[in-house]
Amino acid sequence: MAQNKRLFAWFAAPPLPLTPSPTRDEGESEPPAIPAPFPPLWGKGLGIEGQKQKDRQPLGRIDGATKLVGVIGWPVAHSLSPVMHNAAFDALGLNWRYVAMPVRTEDVGAALRGLRALGFQGVNVTVPHKQRVVPHLAGISPEARTLGAVNTLSAGPDGWHGDNTDARGFIRDLIAHGVDVKGKMCLVLGAGGAARAVVYALTAAGGRVAVFNRTHTRALDLVSDLTGLFPGGVLTAHAMAQLGDFVRDGERAPGLIVNTTSVGMWPDAGTSPWPDGLKIPPETVVYDLVYKPLRTRFLEQAESCGARTIDGIGMLVHQGAEALQLWTGQEAPIDVMTGAAREAAASMTESEAANGEKEHQHL
Ligand SMILES: NC(=O)c1ccc[n+]([C@@H]2O[C@H](COP(=O)([O-])OP(=O)(O)OC[C@H]3O[C@@H](n4cnc5c(N)ncnc54)[C@H](OP(=O)(O)O)[C@@H]3O)[C@@H](O)[C@H]2O)c1
Repeated sequence: MAQNKRLFAWFAAPPLPLTPSPTRDEGESEPPAIPAPFPPLWGKGLGIEGQKQKDRQPLGRIDGATKLVGVIGWPVAHSLSPVMHNAAFDALGLNWRYVAMPVRTEDVGAALRGLRALGFQGVNVTVPHKQRVVPHLAGISPEARTLGAVNTLSAGPDGWHGDNTDARGFIRDLIAHGVDVKGKMCLVLGAGGAARAVVYALTAAGGRVAVFNRTHTRALDLVSDLTGLFPGGVLTAHAMAQLGDFVRDGERAPGLIVNTTSVGMWPDAGTSPWPDGLKIPPETVVYDLVYKPLRTRFLEQAESCGARTIDGIGMLVHQGAEALQLWTGQEAPIDVMTGAAREAAASMTESEAANGEKEHQHL
């Protein structure tokens, strides 16, 4: 019950206020111009050109008082979180820095002990460690326990405290887009970790949720785990093959369709979880958690049916904003984080396309 009350408190809270982008101080000079691009010297995408581009990012000062946070995962080299959080710290005038730290599965415990010993204030956790960190925690929030996954750690006097900001991030982004799911039929494609957060959030917000997954048993497990959390909640599990019949049944017209599968994600950007030829009612809102590429084939299919579309950057930003607020106690500058993440996502996809790299999307 306390858990429900806390969740509803998120929804009742107004969307975070927008903060203006930082402006350059008078007299502050432009970063030095970068000479004509050099060809890559080593490795895929690690050429000197990319390095010089990175050097152009305005960096906040790092000194003896700088507070550190970061993300652990494997891989994390292409995480958008450092760009997004460091832009926020600069905008807030905070002497904090955020770094990406590749950690192998067998090293998770040692890494968390080490980060604590080094005085890190907080850590984001991404694939594949979201469950693996749990035994190393001093405490875990009810949401994270219910979802069975942790994506944010905060340093406490007794050790790391785990939370999951994905559900809050998703619902905050829906609110920011003016989408109210109360009483609406919401179709969720996928039954993995992200689906759990989305289904939790939608059910808590009063949506009627139908989960479709390639592996039917996984959808059944998700529904069985989350049913009963919210009295009056309507939650059903289906095989992905049943999607067409479900959508064509006019009695159950969806108000919202959310893709939580990884289908359509770079490098398989030409794929979609939505069957070709299956019409999406034009009054439906279609949300894709995938943000690499920003414009997925699923969103293109939805647009061609006249539906309104929302990409995955907003959820990424809002879950990050929730983490930043947990760590610093300050309101996150949503517009600054959005701009930084969107720009980095677009340029990253372009550079990967140019390099023909196979990369995985992650926080
Ligand atoms: N925007 C954000 O802030 C945000 C946050 C979290 C996650 N995400 C994105 O959400 C996606 C899923 O993440 P996750 O952590 O939930 O991953 P996950 O736990 O590995 O789940 C993957 C899901 O995709 C389905 N799937 C994978 N390949 C498929 C295929 N070829 N055909 C049909 N279904 C397929 C899986 O179905 P089976 O069960 O049948 O394998 C499962 O439902 C990723 O793209 C991730 O980057 C975005």
